[in-house]
Amino acid sequence: MAKDLSPKNILVTGGCGFIGSNFVHYVVKNHPETHVTVLDALTYAGNIENIAGLPEDRVEFVHGNICDADLLDKIVPGHDAIVHYAAESHNDNSIADPEPFLRTNVEGTYRLLEAARKYDVRYHHISTDEVYGDLALDDPARFTEETPYHPSSPYSSTKAASDLLVRAWVRTFGVQATISNCSNNYGPYQHVEKFIPRQITNILTGVRPKLYGDGLNVRDWIHTDDHSSAVWTILTRGRIGETYLIGADGERNNLTVLRDILEMMGKDPDDFDWVKDRPGHDRRYAIDSTKLRTELGWTPEHTDFREGLEHTIRWYEENRAWWEPVKAKTEARYKAQGQ
Ligand code: NAD
Ligand code: DAU
Repeated sequence: MAKDLSPKNILVTGGCGFIGSNFVHYVVKNHPETHVTVLDALTYAGNIENIAGLPEDRVEFVHGNICDADLLDKIVPGHDAIVHYAAESHNDNSIADPEPFLRTNVEGTYRLLEAARKYDVRYHHISTDEVYGDLALDDPARFTEETPYHPSSPYSSTKAASDLLVRAWVRTFGVQATISNCSNNYGPYQHVEKFIPRQITNILTGVRPKLYGDGLNVRDWIHTDDHSSAVWTILTRGRIGETYLIGADGERNNLTVLRDILEMMGKDPDDFDWVKDRPGHDRRYAIDSTKLRTELGWTPEHTDFREGLEHTIRWYEENRAWWEPVKAKTEARYKAQGQ
């Protein structure tokens, strides 16, 4: 049964990454009664700057790895919830080298579940719609909580594995856990390896944007602030053992998104390169978030995608010092892959 939680002290893993740091900002802004401990290994994708300037009495940073059981023994007790964002998150990287994905996404989740079990701490698991595989472009269906798992990439298969671990720990050990599977996020602090920031920062550095395959793959975009409000809703009011899908009805193909970016940045709509497709590239994701909306009353606020995209472009224009140090290295990696 649902037991509402009023968390006073939460542990956010991956709180220096894109979505995790936006969640930390969201909690600081909207829930003054809640203290946050961020646990982050600061991999290539983590940046301490993402949580810089937040009040020290509200946010504590611990530099460490979620696979480190001794560290978890030290820091988990005293928290009333773990919100688990930390992951290796990029599909292309998982194709080039799957191993870190198995370590962090599978073993790391196992370690956190064991800590949640040992110290009887509520656990919320952040996952992805990619666990469901993909849909055809002309399929009227969308993913629901009942859709069978059918992941395509090393990344999504490790996320699927981690979801299944959570379900087993709920059923077998009675861990008080919930799971959410969200669609593609956009917004500030997203690493320049990902589609939208890559194209914006390419244009800002005089590089032509790169589109995979035929450009018709569809992603279901949601602003990261809406993801944060949904996670808070599930953490505080979700039913234990349940899965909730998070989405904001934002289906768009990649070509349309890229042309929006080009237009908003004053470029010609054809000023981009077609590049080699991603192996196993999922065709379309689409989320039906009826359960979350009807059962818990959540609704997204940022439903104007073009407005959200404009803000995101401005953010990258105004925060060059945040992304410039990693841009050349990221593009060199893509170039080596022919993308
Ligand atoms: P990200 O790559 O931007 O950030 C990941 C963070 O985790 C980084 O700060 C990194 O340093 C940290 N981390 C990695 N390995 C770690 C380890 N072993 N121990 C401790 N910290 C570690 O990822 P993101 O895009 O913000 O995604 C966050 C979560 O949301 C992931 O679980 C991802 O699967 C899920 N998700 C992402 C999206 C999306 O559109 N990006 C959509 C749905 C779900
Ligand atoms: O659906 C949720 C998932 O969304 C999350 O689980 C992942 O962590 C997150 O990275 C994201 O996965 P995608 O693979 O959909 O995101 P990415 O930004 O890598 O790519 C989005 C789409 O754009 C995809 O169809 C591939 C395409 N693409 C990507 C890049 C980097 C391009 O056409 N050109 C590019 O340069």
